[in-house]
Amino acid sequence: MTQIDRVHVALGARSYDVVIGQGLLAQAGALIAPLLARPRVAVLSESRVAALHLAALETGLGAAGIATSAHALAPGEGTKGWEGLREAVEWLLDARVERRDMVLALGGGVIGDLGGFAASVLRRGVRFVQVPSTLLAQVDSSVGGKTGINTRHGKNLVGAFHQPSLVLADIDLLDRLPPRDFLAGYGEVVKYGLLGDAAFFQWLEVNGPAMARGAKELRHYAVRRSVEMKAGIVARDETEQGERALLNLGHTFCHALEAATGYGDRLLHGEGVAIGCALAFELSARMGLCAQETPSRVRAHLRAMGMAPDLADIAGDLPSAEALVGLMAQDKKVQDGRLRFILARDIGAAFVCDDVPGDLLLALLAEKLAQRP
Ligand code: GLY
Repeated sequence: MTQIDRVHVALGARSYDVVIGQGLLAQAGALIAPLLARPRVAVLSESRVAALHLAALETGLGAAGIATSAHALAPGEGTKGWEGLREAVEWLLDARVERRDMVLALGGGVIGDLGGFAASVLRRGVRFVQVPSTLLAQVDSSVGGKTGINTRHGKNLVGAFHQPSLVLADIDLLDRLPPRDFLAGYGEVVKYGLLGDAAFFQWLEVNGPAMARGAKELRHYAVRRSVEMKAGIVARDETEQGERALLNLGHTFCHALEAATGYGDRLLHGEGVAIGCALAFELSARMGLCAQETPSRVRAHLRAMGMAPDLADIAGDLPSAEALVGLMAQDKKVQDGRLRFILARDIGAAFVCDDVPGDLLLALLAEKLAQRP
């Protein structure tokens, strides 16, 4: 029997556990049954993930006598919009999900965010369980209760805080992830070390490459440590009045780059987070906040992981530095018209900064853009 860990997210009446381990789909019934008012659940997924994992989940639930109905949405970020929400909610009503029932979201960030939001508005709120199938979803989006959809105005602009009742992070599911998606998720893992745990970053420098190649115990530890950090931050600041903003390290840059590249395959979210983290450390060094050599250490680690940490690594055209800053200004983290960055005094020592000099930011971006072939 392999190790199973439970990380508690302490939120009073909304507290829950994130269960981390191997073979959790097979045990899903036993793990979920204590939460159910009646032995049935409605599973929302997407077609690619459903083809890989739905049968195993249904078998695991069936072993505890839990009946399932399931619906697979189209894969991809495009599903996370009004139309996908409508499809999800109408199906949940067709499936006669009642107020005390449980919805399961089986998939990556798109399904977790959309499924969670659908659960939050269905009958004024039903409970849900996250069964994240990607590294990004296991370490970030499934934990903390941020749910929502994208609109033509931007990403995640419509949503709700709706905490899951349980998260099942089955490390085995990561075996089926394409390497590019694994590494994109790694962008969020390394973020935790960079923002608040230098020892974890050091551990990743040593163990990250073997973990990416498939070492299960290393993956387990990396997911657990990431979830522990997120659980702590969310418990202290559920609705992002302060400390939770640190989880946005790299994200102001990332959101501008995602907008510039069309939110698609050119740049995956986690890839943008990695580039954004490297830029945040570069900006911190230029503002005299951290040592000059720190950004190189961050970039060297990302390169050692096989990731692409520079603007020059993004294929195709990018807009000008001014246009990128314009895209940042549309970010929902803008407050009173001021851009908000997460900067760092060192690896593991991030803080919120509302007064980045505009000329320094423009010069940094212009210089990085000029390095493009
Ligand atoms: N992904 C950032 C947060 O959950 O706050």
